[in-house]
Amino acid sequence: MAMRRKSRTSSTFSQAALSPEKMTVSLTGFMGCGKSSIGKLFCRISNWDFIDLDEMIEKRRGQSVKEIFAEGGEKLFREVELETLKSVLEDRDNGTGRTVLSLGGGTLTTPEAASLIGGKTVCIYLRANTETLVDNLYKYPGERPMLGDSQSDRDSLRAKIEEMMSRRAAIYEAAADWTIDIDGKSYPAIAGEMDTVIWLSEKGKAKD
Ligand code: S3P
Repeated sequence: MAMRRKSRTSSTFSQAALSPEKMTVSLTGFMGCGKSSIGKLFCRISNWDFIDLDEMIEKRRGQSVKEIFAEGGEKLFREVELETLKSVLEDRDNGTGRTVLSLGGGTLTTPEAASLIGGKTVCIYLRANTETLVDNLYKYPGERPMLGDSQSDRDSLRAKIEEMMSRRAAIYEAAADWTIDIDGKSYPAIAGEMDTVIWLSEKGKAKD
């Protein structure tokens, strides 16, 4: 099944996540699954606002993600990431309109962040298999400190992804209201599936 909904009914979505005039959809998934590109595409098609958490972190801090890792490692990055997430969600609480928030691949590893996302957004997990992630991360290497040197060859990259996913898969699954399997699909097709699950969330329906 391409789309799967966790057993949460529409009545359990908080008002901050879901109301006729306001909605915040978060995108989660491993690095390289296309969260930002797919989120931007969806927003362009649907005329929603788009927020990329990594970009907000960089603006807030005046440093790139790579520079933050260089200064204080993952610990500092997660602190800044959580502060930035809180501020983005507070703005959403006080704002209106419809927004997609693209998270970093590791945002939900901070329990407080996972709990905020669970309470305040409709969370969609873009689930990719290891080969899709290897392909994307190998073809389009980004500045991803969490991957270290593993992006230099496919075997090291595969091993690194498998090792990280063995810890993260359950975290993504637990947070997700919806899961979209993205392997072999085009970005427009995935954006179309996002549209469907968002519509179903609003209607309080589950897809069988
Ligand atoms: C990270 C993912 C990155 C970025 C940071 C840490 C992770 O975002 O937040 O490098 O721990 O998975 P993307 O998933 O957008 O690459």
